[in-house]
Amino acid sequence: MQSNLQSKLHVAIIMDGNGRWATRRGLPRRIGHKMGIEAVRRVVEAAPKLGIGTLTLYAFSADNWKRPETEVAALMGLFRRYMRTEAARFARAGVRLTAIGRRDRLPEDLAAGIEWVEAVSAQGQALHLRIALDYSSRDAILRAAASANGADDLTPEGFSRLIKGESDCPDVDLLIRTSGEQRLSDFLLWECAYSELHFTDTLWPDFRAEDLAAVLEEFKGRNRRFGALPDRGDAEQVTMAHRVGA
Ligand code: IPE
Ligand code: IPE
Ligand code: MG
Repeated sequence: MQSNLQSKLHVAIIMDGNGRWATRRGLPRRIGHKMGIEAVRRVVEAAPKLGIGTLTLYAFSADNWKRPETEVAALMGLFRRYMRTEAARFARAGVRLTAIGRRDRLPEDLAAGIEWVEAVSAQGQALHLRIALDYSSRDAILRAAASANGADDLTPEGFSRLIKGESDCPDVDLLIRTSGEQRLSDFLLWECAYSELHFTDTLWPDFRAEDLAAVLEEFKGRNRRFGALPDRGDAEQVTMAHRVGA
C-alpha cells in the first residue's frame, strides 16, 4: 500500500447505536442506519485532515446476520447504494477503499460493487478506507492461521501480513466505539494488541467531524509505552519512586 499512509494514524471505529438513535425518535431502525451513512461520510471527509492514513469502519459483523431479514436487507441496500454513490467522491478526495470480511455470503451485486470501487479507487493517496462487512476477527485469524500452512518461522509481522492481505496497513492506533457499549464484538482482535481505546456515549448517527477531532486531540496526549518505560523524563521519575520505596 501507499507508504505515506503507512506512517500515518490508523483509526478504527465500531459504529454503534444506529438502532437506538431511531427508536428514541419513534422511527424504524433502518432510518438510523441511513443516518449512520451520513456520519460515515463526515468522518471519511474529515479523516485525512486529522492525520489519519487508515480508517477501518465496522459496518456489518458476521453475527449481524442474526438480525431480522428486513433489517439485514435494508443494510445491504444501503451498502449497495454507498458503493454506487461514493466512487466519484473517492476519486475527488483521493480515497482508496478496500473491504475486509467475507464476500461469499454478500448479495452478488454488492460483492461486484465492492470489487468495482476497490479497482477504481486503488490509486487513492489521501486515505485508505477499510470497510468491515460480514466481518469476524476470529474468522480472519483462523483463515490466516490456515494459510500459514504450518510455517514454523512465522513472526508476528508475517502473521499480520497474512491477516491483512491486500488490505495491508499499520496496526490500529486508536479504536473508538460509540453508543456507550464497551466491548470489541469480534473486531480487529489481533490488530488492536496495543491500540488506545476510546468509548463515547454519542450514538453513531450523531457523531460529527468535530467529535473525531476532539477524540484525536485527547489521544495525542496519551503516553503509549508498548511495554517499555515511559519517555525519558518520566522514566527517571519511576526510578526515583522505586528508590524511595526501596
Ligand atoms: C450499529 O448500530 C450498526 C450495525 C450493527 C449494522 P446498531 O444497529 O447495532 O444499533 P443499536 O446498537 O441497536 O442501537
Ligand atoms: C458491532 O455492533 C457491529 C457493528 C457495529 C457493525 P453490534 O451492535 O452488532 O454488537 P453487539 O451485539 O452489541 O455486541
Ligand atoms: Mg449495536
